[in-house]
Amino acid sequence: MKIKVYPTSELQSKAAAQIIADQIRTKPDTAVCLATGDSPFGTYRELVRMVKDSHIDCSRLRVFGLDEWVGIPPDNTGSCHHYLHENFIGPLGIGHDQVHLFDGLSKDLSGECSRMTEAIRHAGGIDIMIVGIGMNGHIGFNEPGVDVNLWAHAIELDEITKTVGQKYFQSATPLSKGITQGFQQVFAARTLMLLAHGKKKASIIHQTAEAPIGIAIPSTLLRQHKNSLIMLDEEAAGELAPSLRN
Ligand code: GLP
Repeated sequence: MKIKVYPTSELQSKAAAQIIADQIRTKPDTAVCLATGDSPFGTYRELVRMVKDSHIDCSRLRVFGLDEWVGIPPDNTGSCHHYLHENFIGPLGIGHDQVHLFDGLSKDLSGECSRMTEAIRHAGGIDIMIVGIGMNGHIGFNEPGVDVNLWAHAIELDEITKTVGQKYFQSATPLSKGITQGFQQVFAARTLMLLAHGKKKASIIHQTAEAPIGIAIPSTLLRQHKNSLIMLDEEAAGELAPSLRN
């Protein structure tokens, strides 16, 4: 696991967007798996700008969602579906047939998970997976205690996730389950990028880098990934041992 620290979140976003843009330029049919939330927001905005300025061809890009709130309709502004359409799929003009997102309203969650896992397998695996980090160390909705042998799966949400998750919704929203790519997909991704910024992420980033590797803090498992990169701003890196920064 490599850690890179940037002076500001703007510079962190630009650097992350540049990596994704270069990947798409090199391999136009790249399969990306995308987180939502505050962490990748600036990166997607920068990427859209780069794609437009440099006329990068996204017509063959394959887009997979990282996770979704179960029971939340796609037109709810707090849904991952809505976020990705607003901030990535729409602005980049990605076609419907290039996109695979979880249906949080599915009555058959296990079928939905199999459909996702099969779609990724059919695409030849994920080239680049962009993830954020929950305040409890979750990756996607792989909550503390998760079974790392799972591919896509539905999961009961941790209390911290239900509370913190309210920030995405316009009014109080009961949240109970999530549907997510599992750690098998995380480990299989050829490149894994974790984005975090701001002081509130400093403690969990410190634990991710230094706590014992295990499911109590799922993000620690990224230290076992063959090609993972953590991109931070100074604030999120604030509790890291100096020897871990570069
Ligand atoms: C959310 C999402 C994750 C996201 C993480 C961090 O609940 N399920 O995919 O990466 O928690 O969110 P944020 O970037 O808003 O801090």
